[in-house]
Amino acid sequence: MKKQTFLENVIIITGASSGIGRHLALRFAEQGAWLALAARNAEQLEEVSKQCQQRGGKAIIIPTDVAEQSQCKNLIERTIEKYGRIDTLINNAGFGIASRFDELHDLKIFEQIIQVNFFGSVYCTHYALPYIKETNGRLVGISSLRGKFPSATADGYGASKHAMAEFFESLRNELFNTGVSVTIIYPAWVSTGISSRNFRADGTPTGEISIHEKGAMSVETCTQLIIKAVATRKREVIMTLEGKLGLWLYLIAPKIANQILRKKTG
Ligand SMILES: NC(=O)c1ccc[n+]([C@@H]2O[C@H](COP(=O)([O-])OP(=O)(O)OC[C@H]3O[C@@H](n4cnc5c(N)ncnc54)[C@H](OP(=O)(O)O)[C@@H]3O)[C@@H](O)[C@H]2O)c1
Repeated sequence: MKKQTFLENVIIITGASSGIGRHLALRFAEQGAWLALAARNAEQLEEVSKQCQQRGGKAIIIPTDVAEQSQCKNLIERTIEKYGRIDTLINNAGFGIASRFDELHDLKIFEQIIQVNFFGSVYCTHYALPYIKETNGRLVGISSLRGKFPSATADGYGASKHAMAEFFESLRNELFNTGVSVTIIYPAWVSTGISSRNFRADGTPTGEISIHEKGAMSVETCTQLIIKAVATRKREVIMTLEGKLGLWLYLIAPKIANQILRKKTG
């Protein structure tokens, strides 16, 4: 990968206030990218923006709740006002749920996760697409291995990530020969602290790192893999060998694969 791939590349990153989104912003800034950073927490975005500028990038913050269509429209319009074009959109904003389906008293959290993890990507992509077509740009969706496999619990996260992945898979076909690439990322667990922010059945965050996140892939490694894939316009990245093997097993022996999934993710 050439170091200059993202020099002056106008990149929108949703969920840029922490974790994978924040790290992506810093790495792109080191290549001289022009960034539009979106998430709800303006204070944290401001901090990321300062760090991006110190690393040689340009950055603006656009506080956005991606669950709101009008705010996603505003994100795209403000990016165009500032930079005049969009080269890359990274749909990364998302959250998880740590609850069994039969423990949920209120289905609001189910609606919310689809709204953020799926519709957030749909809204941003809808408003950005005309501009991305003009630049032969790049669309990116940060899904999850949960967007490929079932899990031990029907918590809504997997459903949101399956929906998101299918949307981008089909959009890639629709955009065939337009010059726009669509890259879908399927991370396994990554150490960002996301599990402590996952919501329990009562709607409060768990506040603790789950055993699954301990010893997971570092956010630095995950970010490196994402940037390489986006630079080379790869179709998809299935992170970890276990993930790749699991996919094959799920195709040829779904019963065994589900037994393993129940043990590993339960
Ligand atoms: N870490 C993992 O193990 C893992 C594995 C597979 C896939 N992923 C996916 O990778 C993405 C990033 O996760 P992460 O690990 O970096 O988690 P994280 O550190 O919790 O970051 C999530 C980001 O999404 C933003 N966000 C959440 N709800 C939002 C909303 N309604 N509107 C706008 N932004 C919102 C958060 O910012 P605000 O709170 O400021 O809005 C934050 O910047 C997610 O889509 C996640 O599902 C993560």
